[in-house]
Amino acid sequence: MSDHTLIQGGRVIAADGEYDADVLIDGERIAAVGAVEAPEGATVIDASGCLLLPGLIDNHTHMAMPFMGMRSADDYDTGTRAAAAGGVTCIVDFSIQREPDGLASALEEWKGRADGAAHVDYGFHMAITNANAPTIEDMGAMVDAGVSSFKLFMAYKGELMVRDDELAATMERARDLGALVMVHAENGDIVDMLVTRALAAGETSAINHALTRPEMVEAEATGRAARLAEYTGASLFVVHVTCAAAAAEVEAAQQRGADVSAETCVQYLVNTIDDLRRPGVEGCRYICSPPLRDGANHAPLWDYVRRGVLESVSTDHCPFDDAQKARGLDDFSLVPNGLPAIQHRLAKLWDEGVIAGRITPSQLVDRTSTTVARRFGLDAKGAIAPGKDADIVVLDPNAPKPYGVATSLMNVDYDLYEGEIASSSVRHTLCRGTMVYDRGAIVTAPGHGRYVARSVSRPAVHA
Ligand code: URP
Ligand code: ZN
Ligand code: ZN
Repeated sequence: MSDHTLIQGGRVIAADGEYDADVLIDGERIAAVGAVEAPEGATVIDASGCLLLPGLIDNHTHMAMPFMGMRSADDYDTGTRAAAAGGVTCIVDFSIQREPDGLASALEEWKGRADGAAHVDYGFHMAITNANAPTIEDMGAMVDAGVSSFKLFMAYKGELMVRDDELAATMERARDLGALVMVHAENGDIVDMLVTRALAAGETSAINHALTRPEMVEAEATGRAARLAEYTGASLFVVHVTCAAAAAEVEAAQQRGADVSAETCVQYLVNTIDDLRRPGVEGCRYICSPPLRDGANHAPLWDYVRRGVLESVSTDHCPFDDAQKARGLDDFSLVPNGLPAIQHRLAKLWDEGVIAGRITPSQLVDRTSTTVARRFGLDAKGAIAPGKDADIVVLDPNAPKPYGVATSLMNVDYDLYEGEIASSSVRHTLCRGTMVYDRGAIVTAPGHGRYVARSVSRPAVHA
């Protein structure tokens, strides 16, 4: 039996341009791109009228994450089904340190959850919650194991938050290892103070989550982390930038010559703080941190994405169902933070970004795949080119598809975009040459997805 697949008649969207081409796959890798004859016995996929994108990478997900006394609702099976339905062929999830004396047990725990369950490939960042000496020492073993980025939370006091001296010590070690430091940038002390005040005043509904985490607390922490990175000489990546004030801190650091990069997430480009004003549990569904912002941030954020100051757009997929969200109906501080988004990033960025004229198709590919692969050391991914993993999305730009629980594979009982219609739809998603998602159905068994050991980060080259 031939191990060849030919994707015929599509238009390849690359980070640096687009062109009509067939794509020949040999086993797990791309063998040729251009005018290609189907080898004897090859499986042929007709992609006429469709666009071929390199598989999207979601560098910010939380599958089965223990958080706020709960666990996020998607595991590696359900979450990567939804990923594939949204054109994602690789995720980089956060493994979180749970023991004070090192990182190895966390990596083992997270790998144990993912191995044999995932449908698309996966790597891990390591979140450090206690940067003591054994932990700092252990960072070397993590890099050797292919975990080349370390995240620190500057918020979630009492659960995940670290002190500035821990942040600085992690940065110094990461600098020496050539690894990347990532931060969730919010001033956790100030958030805590504002939350305590709001609850004491009886302000308990969902909107108060956003009101107690104003833009200033994000901008201040972003600037502080950038200054610490500059001082220590570390490479810094700021996750989920939500507002112009924080993005301006990133750009200022870049202009000073600091090695500071950043992402935003799709929800910050399309949703607003007003979503938290919806009644009852509906408002709780939109609680995430940092919070959704005033819509006045959308235009500047899109511009930061277009210019590559925000070099990628991820999802921070961290779903909780209504029963979990309802825990905080009478106290917003008890609502588990996070949104279900992994399936919808491509469709939303296509409509609100490309069709709306805010970014080009190539910039979409760059910000969701090519630059992400470079930044996070996914050397075999991020482009449709000979020798790369055959991670390919066949996107039909003329096949509208409704959002909603009826078609969502995310493991929650609502869809944030219920009632809306996307103008495009993913027809097929192939991960390492294997069809994972085929016109509405997942056709792989759990376990097709493999752990990817990542190399150290390389700077972005922006389209
Ligand atoms: O609200 C969010 N973002 N939940 C997931 C954890 C995090 O802060 O990234
Ligand atoms: Zn975060
Ligand atoms: Zn996150």
